[in-house]
Amino acid sequence: MKPSTAVSVCGIALANPIVAASGTFGYGLEFRDMMDLRALGGIVVKGLSKDPIDGNAAPRLWEAEQGMINSVGLQNIGVRAFVREKLPALSTAGTNVFANIFGYAAEDYLEVVRVLEDSEGLAGYELNVSCPNTKHGGIFFSNDPEALGELIASVKLVARRPVIVKLSPNVARIEPLAVAAEQSGADAISLVNTFVSLAIDARTRKPRIGAGFGGLSGPAIKPIALRMVYQASRAVRIPVIGMGGIASGEDAAEFLIAGATAVEVGTATFWDPTAPRRIARELESFLVQQKIDDVRSLTGTLEL
Ligand SMILES: Cc1cc2nc3c(=O)[nH]c(=O)nc-3n(C[C@H](O)[C@H](O)[C@H](O)COP(=O)(O)O)c2cc1C
Repeated sequence: MKPSTAVSVCGIALANPIVAASGTFGYGLEFRDMMDLRALGGIVVKGLSKDPIDGNAAPRLWEAEQGMINSVGLQNIGVRAFVREKLPALSTAGTNVFANIFGYAAEDYLEVVRVLEDSEGLAGYELNVSCPNTKHGGIFFSNDPEALGELIASVKLVARRPVIVKLSPNVARIEPLAVAAEQSGADAISLVNTFVSLAIDARTRKPRIGAGFGGLSGPAIKPIALRMVYQASRAVRIPVIGMGGIASGEDAAEFLIAGATAVEVGTATFWDPTAPRRIARELESFLVQQKIDDVRSLTGTLEL
């Protein structure tokens, strides 16, 4: 019998737990000719800001050992152009579309949410909180439970759609941030974003990335991401979306076992543009092999 792959994340029905991660799947439309987007649990579009952003100086990507370092600088067309030029086609793709949102002050996030609230075709919001809060001396929202809580509470006042808060792994302990997100009204949390890192060219003695530091993603981070997803999911009752280096159906199963309800696939798409689709198929095959009739029965079953 075909196993059941459907999951629900804060009231949003996903055909399967596999979602394309922000910043690695463009605005989704770029992948329409490569795969049936209906076969995915959802798509998170690249981060949206109130105004368009050109991004950082090149080089923006560096292939590291078992991973990738990027400092794209959150290049995007701005929320208004997204609503005008991308969302109409995207909303007919037959999958859940999540808008990833970032800013440098609470007002930035609120402006983006307000614009999106006036449009149809989105399942929910994912807040990227791994940005410095320029109004408060550049302390990262993702590092400060109080600033994080205030941001989420203010977004929740204007958002009628579910709010997923995407946590940064660049913290000593993830639990206080996960708890702050839950207590201030987050409907779900997702983790992990990239790890701050540095690649050096020994010959030129310069960073490999134009902006200096970059974010490490891909298989290299998977074991750390799994540990953090486990810890975060034990600390909260809201659903957890796990990610970090997922490249196969079995990797996805590991994140579910660690405590995630759904997962996101990012860097794998850079070497296999159909990775989210393939991973959804592989997860289903894994369920068949393991004689598991419902994917939901995997979540949080780690024996530790
Ligand atoms: C090139 C690139 C751009 C990214 N842009 C964003 C972004 O705009 N917003 C965001 O929340 N995360 C962004 N991320 C982080 C990913 O969504 C994901 O959290 C991270 O890469 C870990 O998953 P992975 O190892 O499967 O890539 C980006 C990652 C990469 C590699």
